[in-house]
Formats: sequence, structure tokens, C-alpha cells
Amino acid sequence: MSAPSLPEEGPRVVRPAARLHGEPRLPGDKSISHRAVLLAALAEGESAITGASDGRDVQATAAIAAALGASVERAGGDGLNADYRVASPGADGLHEPDGGLDCRNSGTSLRLFAGVLASLPFFSILDGDASLRTRPVARIIEPLRSMGASLYARKSDSLPPLVVIGSPRLRGIDYTTRVPSAQVKSAILLAGLRSEGRTTVREATATRDHTERMLRARGVEVRYEPATSSEGGPVAWSLDGGMRLQSRDERVPADPSAAAFWLVAAAIHPDADLTLRGVGVNPTRRAVIDILVRMGARIAETAVAHEAEAGTAGTAANSGEPVADLTVRSSGLRAVDLGPGDVAAAIDEIPILCLAATQARGRTTIRGAGELRHKESDRIAGIAAGLSALGARVSVDGDDIAVDGPTPLIGSPTASLDDHRLAMTFAVAGLIASGATTIDRADSAAISYPGFFLEMERLRA
Ligand code: S3P
Repeated sequence: MSAPSLPEEGPRVVRPAARLHGEPRLPGDKSISHRAVLLAALAEGESAITGASDGRDVQATAAIAAALGASVERAGGDGLNADYRVASPGADGLHEPDGGLDCRNSGTSLRLFAGVLASLPFFSILDGDASLRTRPVARIIEPLRSMGASLYARKSDSLPPLVVIGSPRLRGIDYTTRVPSAQVKSAILLAGLRSEGRTTVREATATRDHTERMLRARGVEVRYEPATSSEGGPVAWSLDGGMRLQSRDERVPADPSAAAFWLVAAAIHPDADLTLRGVGVNPTRRAVIDILVRMGARIAETAVAHEAEAGTAGTAANSGEPVADLTVRSSGLRAVDLGPGDVAAAIDEIPILCLAATQARGRTTIRGAGELRHKESDRIAGIAAGLSALGARVSVDGDDIAVDGPTPLIGSPTASLDDHRLAMTFAVAGLIASGATTIDRADSAAISYPGFFLEMERLRA
């Protein structure tokens, strides 16, 4: 497959598509790609990573791993996915970086590396772009400090840049997270790897469990206490300190959060039939699929065996991640009510689900979505402004969102706020809106989905 060549800089204009048929190519899962590179840097030896996201966020993580002393070689890639070969002396051989560590736009890089650096005996500064400097860090400073590390940040320890003075003598903790966040959970578990005693993280709602699966795959015993009620409820993850990771090859499944844009595009378009191959369908990530099915989306799912394990592990990819092919066709959608648990489970897909709701019959309600205000932009304000500009009926009351549908969308300028998920949501809206939909700073799509607009052009051709 040739490299994407469509320029992705600046504003883009999207016009309605007559039909949407085909197989969009997807980037590797962003969350798993970050962890694959970071864990490879902590494990002594060589790790080959295939099919990682080639988005800017994962590139930031690769550069940080290299600045800490791992050898990170880009072994191939096509602008959408990249392969890496990482050779590391192991966590004990990493060294103090010569300068600040630039996480760029990536909250995952910042939070996960903060956990790692808390346990390494040197001084480092994690910083990033203007958006990252507005994202909360008190949520990781508090638990990592109580483990024995020293962390400081701007504005009374609330905003990056984040200074970390790590300690080789951290103490394990038993910690209940204040907000459901896989980044916070992962930072604590990563610090716990090199701490004395046991580290336990409890969360009111289960968040994505990639760190836990990938640690297990690298030889760490991670214990899980499931929710006691079928409705959900608190879950706990724990591990013992003093752990060394084994190096390991990783094949990254396609990103369900990127697939979500095409699932909704096809569901709301009158002449659509799209197939998405090799998508990660981990139970802690697949909520967007299940919510769309509840809304009436015609999605067919076929579990696939991973190439490397075909005939053995059935549907599991390398890190124990289930993978499926998804086919989605034009659908008649109905409204849905989503609560805080759904928001946590589909945290990155709420913007595109709001677009789906504009085409669904009835009032969709999304309650307790406050965490969306702390993403790459204030996504509650951004989605309400952008969809309203297109003629949708969206109202916001505190942290709750309501969308009435179905509403015909009318092309107009939209503001992406330099946020990749808003840019792609408004671009998908443009496929069904009349006239021209303009998305400013649409190149932000390359944060998680380089080649997104190229795929859009291919599908409508
Ligand atoms: C991520 C966790 C989520 C998500 C982000 C990626 C991760 O953030 O929004 O895009 O890889 O752990 P929070 O855990 O802060 O909600």
C-alpha cells in the first residue's frame, strides 16, 4: 500500500458523499501503541512492534523513550501505521534526559511516563503543546507523591509542565481513583512495578485495561478483583513491586476509536456499506460498538484470529486483545440514554456518538460527561458549538448533553479547536450535510489518524 499523499494541513472542506462503500484503512490502536513502546523501553532486550499508530501522539512517546536511553528504530511504516524495533538496557539502565521531554499533544505520554519516571532516580520535566498545558495533572501528582516521589507543576501543582524527581525507593499504595481514568490507573501501576510492597488501584468504573494485559504478557502477575454486581461497581487491580519486565514482540490491533468514525459515517449515510478489518474489541474499549447497536446500527462482527496466533489462541492478538472485522451499513437510528458509566467506557467516542444522535429518532441524553472538558479541548463546548453550527439541536446543562433528532445538517464552518476527535467528527458530518462543511485546523486528525482525509477521499471515489 502506498503512503498517504493528500496534504492534511490547514482547513478542509468536506462535501456530501453520494455513496460510501469500501474498506477504510485504520491506524494501530493509539493506547496500545503508546504502551508497547513504553513497556519495550522498560524491558531489557529487544522488542519488535508491528502495526503501531503512526499518529503524532505515539511519535511523541517514541521520542521520549529514546531520550531516556532506549534505542528506538522506526523499522517501517506507511504514514498510517509504523513498525518499531526497540532495544533497551532495561529500566535500571535508563538515564536522566538531557532536556525537557516533549509530550506534544499527548496526555497519555505525559501521564504514563510520569508513573515510570516517579520510580527512576533522576530529574525530568514533562511538557507539551498549548493544549497539553491545560490538562490536569493533580490527579497523578497526588498518588505518586504518596508513593514517595517528588512532583511539581504549574499553578499550584495542577497544570504541566510537570517536574518529576523520581525515587528508587517508592512504597506501594492502595489507591482509589477520583475520576475513572486509565491514564491515572496506569501511571500508578507503572510506578508500582518498582515499588516496595503491593500496589492496588481501585476504580468505581472499569476503564481500559491494556496496561494490565500487556504487563501480564511481559511476565508481571497482575491480580484483578471484578465488580461485585452485574451492574458494574468498583474493580481493583494490584501487582507486587520489584518486577522486571520481559521484552516481547507486539502486534497492535486496529484502533476502535478510529473505527468509530466510520461506524457512525456508514450508519448515518443513506448509501453505505463499510468493512473495518482487525479492529480491537477489548471489552473495556468496545462500548461504542454496543451503544451504536443499541441505537439500531446494523453492525456485523466477525471475530478474527490474529495471524501470529491463528489456530492457537482463537481471537486473541499478541497482548491478549480480542480482534474482529466489523461491517456496517446504512441504518435507521433511535435515541439512547447514556450515563456516567457509558461515558467512561466510551470516553473518546462521545463526540462522534453525538453526531450519530443528531440523526437518531428522539432525544439522546448523555449524563455526567464532565471528563470531556479535560481532553484535548473542552469537548462538551466544542461538540455543542460545531454540531449547532451545522443545524443540529444540541443543549448542554452542566456536564449533561442532550441531542434531539433526526435533524438534517447544513454545511457550514466548524471549529475543531485543534482537537483531532472534533475535526474528524465534523468531517464525517460533512459527508451527510448539504453544501460545504469547513473544518478549521483539520490537520489535527493526524494526532491519532494520519491519512484520515485520504481514506475519506478513497471511500467516496
Ligand atoms: C487513554 C485513556 C483515556 C483516553 C485517552 C487514552 C489511555 O484517558 O481518553 O485518549 O491510553 O489510557 P483518561 O484515562 O484520562 O480518561
